Parts: sequence; structure tokens; C-alpha cells
Amino acid sequence: MRRLFNKIFKEETKLLAPSLPSNLSYSDFNFMTKRGFLGKKLSQYLGLHKEEGDSLFYLSFSKRSFTNPEKEKRNELILYLSERMLKWSEQKLDVPYQIKRLDVRPDIQNAMLKAYDIYKNDLFSIPHLAEKQRLTGSFNDEKWEVYRDVIFAATQEKFLLITKEEVNKHKEGIVLCEGTIKERSDIPICRNLAKERLEAEGFSHSTIMSWLLVLSEAITNTIKHAEEGKMTIIKDEKNHEIRFIIEDKGPGFDLKDLPKKTLLAGYSTKKSLGQGFTLMMKMAKRVLLFTSSKGSIIILLFDIRKEHKDKLSNG
Ligand SMILES: Nc1ncnc2c1ncn2[C@@H]1O[C@H](COP(=O)(O)OP(=O)(O)OP(=O)(O)O)[C@@H](O)[C@H]1O
Ligand SMILES: [Mg+2]
Repeated sequence: MRRLFNKIFKEETKLLAPSLPSNLSYSDFNFMTKRGFLGKKLSQYLGLHKEEGDSLFYLSFSKRSFTNPEKEKRNELILYLSERMLKWSEQKLDVPYQIKRLDVRPDIQNAMLKAYDIYKNDLFSIPHLAEKQRLTGSFNDEKWEVYRDVIFAATQEKFLLITKEEVNKHKEGIVLCEGTIKERSDIPICRNLAKERLEAEGFSHSTIMSWLLVLSEAITNTIKHAEEGKMTIIKDEKNHEIRFIIEDKGPGFDLKDLPKKTLLAGYSTKKSLGQGFTLMMKMAKRVLLFTSSKGSIIILLFDIRKEHKDKLSNG
């Protein structure tokens, strides 16, 4: 919580303080801060301007409660939804389930689901859950190894969980290009950058197109389910591989949800098709995943020997 407060106040001190309702207790103030922060995040995920998010944050301090706002008052509506999320959590209700039951636009639902996923420990921390997570520990080594081996075998060696050290090994090679993934508009920017560099390397059009399709899925996941991503394309001639590395600072994957999220076609925690991983697995030679509560790194491997053979047989 302290981290969250510091983060907010560092950013906000330059803005004017709002006029607060009288007789606010610490817990009222705490609640308004969380609600404002959540509202600001929702506005960011909905693609609204930063200024709008800032004014939303301040609006949160003007009232104790935002009940039944009119549909056209967008900022009040966002704060009302943020308030509902915090209340559900206080009442120990299943927040994602409640979000999915709401009669609001799917993009708003997805923004709410994403905010819950990313801030569930900071904003919605439920003591027994935190304790349970600590005990079952997503990164209990022995358990992690069992998951890794079973998933690897079940996917015919296509999907492999890796450690941070193993990620670094996969970063060795020539960096063809790098791009940041922060907003939806970065998806086509990264895709075009990758396309240009891969064309310059002389890969065939059809190969590049199929690689870009998979890359788009991974980048889109960063926007939909995480925050602050980065794409790096590595050419590793020694191992005859092209590797797409997509890193993010999102919520990561809980070990127990990992098989469903990555291997079950049609499974999505958002209002979506749940086909991204299925496609990545189908098209890439191998998919590697490093995940922690601070973020994930997905590495898509493609064989370039095959590409050269194709080129020879075509030519
Ligand atoms: N970078 C990520 N960080 C955290 N969770 C993720 C990330 N990428 C995917 N997920 C989780 O894995 C689930 C499955 O991802 P997948 O790409 O297969 O489906 P989707 O993104 O929900 O739907 P689609 O890709 O068909 O639009 C997601 O619903 C989400 O819960
Ligand atoms: Mg996806």
C-alpha cells in the first residue's frame, strides 16, 4: 500500500488539491485514493487521455460515493465502477465474476478485469488470499518443476517454462530490432518495425507474414493483460533461430492457472476468444515463458534452417 501511495503522490503533487468533503476519516481518504487510482487506470486502459485520468483521480475526492451516475457522465461512471470493484472486494465477493455479470460495454469490462488482475495485491488484497499465495508460493521450486515437465510433455515439447537465467541465454545473438509496447497504437508500430527488419534479412514474404501473426498475438496480450511491454527480435545464427522476446510488467501467470490460460483453446479471463496461445503454439517451433508476479517474458522460437530449405526448394 505504501508503494501505491508513494507512486500516486509523487505523480500528483504538482496538481491542485481538490475540495474535500468535511469530516473525512483516514479510511474514507484511503478509499477515495484507491478509487481515484483505479479510475485513472480504467481510463488509461480505455485509451482516454492522461489529463482525463488525472481529473478523474481528483474527482474521486469530491464525494464519498458515486451512486447511479447518469450514463453520459463518463468520469462519474468510471468512478462508480471503481467503487463497485472495491466494495465487492470488501464484501469478499468474486470480483472478476461480478465484473462479467455487469451490463456494461465489453471494453469497459475488459479494462476492469485487467485492472483487477494487475492491482489485485495492492488494491484488493484479501488477507487470507495473500497468506494462501505465500504458502502455496507460485515459485515453490519443486512444484514449479513438476508443472514445467508436465506441460512440456503434454504439449509435445512445444511449451516450456523457463527461469530468469534461461531468459538471458535466449537473448544472446544479433538484436535485429527493439520496440516498446505501451499503447494499442504500438501494436502496428512494432509489427511494421519487425516486418521491415525481417525483410531486410531476406526472409520470404509468407514466412514473415506467419511470424508477424504470432508476434501480434503476444504483443496484443501485453496490451490486453499487462502493462509496459518491450519487443526484441534476436537472430541467432549459431542455433539457426529467430527469437521474438516479449517482456511485460504485468501481473504474471499464477502457476495453478497456467495450464488453463496457455493450453486450453478458448479459455480467456477477459471477454475474448482465448485463442492467442493456441496460435502461438501452433505456429512457433517452441514457446518459452518466464513468469513472476512482477511480469512475464514470452519467447517465440522459429527455425530458420527450415526457412532456408523452403527458399531453396522454391527457387
Ligand atoms: N502477458 C500476459 N500477462 C498476464 N496474463 C496473460 C498474458 N497474456 C495472456 N494472459 C492470460 O492468458 C489468457 C489466455 O491468453 P490468450 O492470448 O490465449 O487469450 P486472450 O488474450 O484472452 O484472447 P485472444 O487472444 O483470443 O483475444 C488470457 O485471458 C490472460 O488471462
Ligand atoms: Mg490473447
